[in-house]
Amino acid sequence: MTTFMPHPIIPIIDRRDHVVLAEEASLATPDGRLRDVLDRPLHDLRISVTDRCNFRCTYCMPKDVFDRDHPYVPHRNLLTFEEIARVTRAFVAHGVVKIRLTGGEPLLRKDLERLVAMLAGIELPPGPASASGRKPDLTLTTNGSLLRLKAKALKAAGLERVTVSLDALDDRRFRAMNDVDFPVADVLDGIDAAADAGLGPIKINMVVKRGVNDDQIEPMAERFRGSGHILRFIEYMDVGASNRWKLDEVVPSAEVVRRLNALHPVEPLSANYAGEVAERWRYTDGHGEVGVISSVTQAFCGSCSRARLSPEGSLYTCLFGNHGTDLRSLLRAGASERQLATAIAGVWSLRSDRYSELRGVRRVAVDRRVEMSYIGG
Ligand code: GTP
Ligand code: 5AD
Ligand code: SF4
Ligand code: SF4
Repeated sequence: MTTFMPHPIIPIIDRRDHVVLAEEASLATPDGRLRDVLDRPLHDLRISVTDRCNFRCTYCMPKDVFDRDHPYVPHRNLLTFEEIARVTRAFVAHGVVKIRLTGGEPLLRKDLERLVAMLAGIELPPGPASASGRKPDLTLTTNGSLLRLKAKALKAAGLERVTVSLDALDDRRFRAMNDVDFPVADVLDGIDAAADAGLGPIKINMVVKRGVNDDQIEPMAERFRGSGHILRFIEYMDVGASNRWKLDEVVPSAEVVRRLNALHPVEPLSANYAGEVAERWRYTDGHGEVGVISSVTQAFCGSCSRARLSPEGSLYTCLFGNHGTDLRSLLRAGASERQLATAIAGVWSLRSDRYSELRGVRRVAVDRRVEMSYIGG
């Protein structure tokens, strides 16, 4: 018979949402991995370094909401690079093997390469290795507008690869979708710069919205087929509180795959790791890989192992969350790395989010949901 041992500490969340540590201890399960109430391990950390962006993609930061009066995070409230590195070390101590820098547009954060260098220096604890060995994978999601300027410095600082958002090849369509008249040629040039700098394999993320850019599926597929870059088609999600999402604007991944297959036959590939977001496909003639991300038609909450850190240092356990746990106060009160790790363990061990799986079943109040430009794509 196994004896049940209660977890030695539970952090107490006080009225100001500050984590108060009762005592220091680890909440890891016997296999050494931290698990939530649905038995999901902690695998990825997505760090949003800014809630600002130089694009106003209509599905993410519509201009009428994200205007001059929008309450962006004031600079003093942003975590410093040193604070981000400290908290990241605590996550890595708990088994995080993949780190993604995101935003907003992360390359708007001044000297981001300095943060990259700090994160690239973090080593994994003894135990299972990541795809890149004894260090966590370090990647970045960007709109590509500043890649020509930044790619070399990011690579030199230790960034491994980038994912670039690109929703259309047609210049007029692209300019209309980013809503700041940004030319597609400059993003394509940024992608070339990233490839030249060695930031591959590059992933290209295309959010597909019916009636807006779904006619770009085939041109995008042709453009990136055989390029060495991996194009992924993303189902448009009801994330945040301002994009006025409608279900009939979602193009199901099954339709995307049918259309790809009609263009050039594709066959499924197995996942690179448990909990991978994208479903992978390859062209049967060997011209590379494509992917689909089906968070609406085939929710993947069951294997969701992603923690999210907001620009202000709050920990969110779901993209659709409306509440984060304030780690910045702990950091600024001089908490040790161990205390931070304990706080993280407490939050993760209580996690039960599965918004996308419940989407059809339960209506969740939209008004207080966190925006994707704040918490990261
Ligand atoms: P790679 O390992 O590079 O493939 O990264 P990834 O699989 O984490 O993919 P990426 O970070 O590029 O995420 C792609 C898109 O998938 C995001 O922009 C979101 O639209 C969606 N996505 C990522 N994580 C989640 C998640 O936890 N929940 C939901 N609902 N969507 C997600
Ligand atoms: N649905 C799906 N993906 C979105 N992104 C932003 N808003 C949405 C949405 N409503 C993702 C895109 C983009 C990244 C920054 O965030 O993948 O590439
Ligand atoms: Fe900026 Fe990316 Fe949102 Fe577009 S999708 S507004 S590029 S954060
Ligand atoms: Fe994870 Fe929440 Fe996305 Fe589900 S909806 S996959 S729990 S982030």
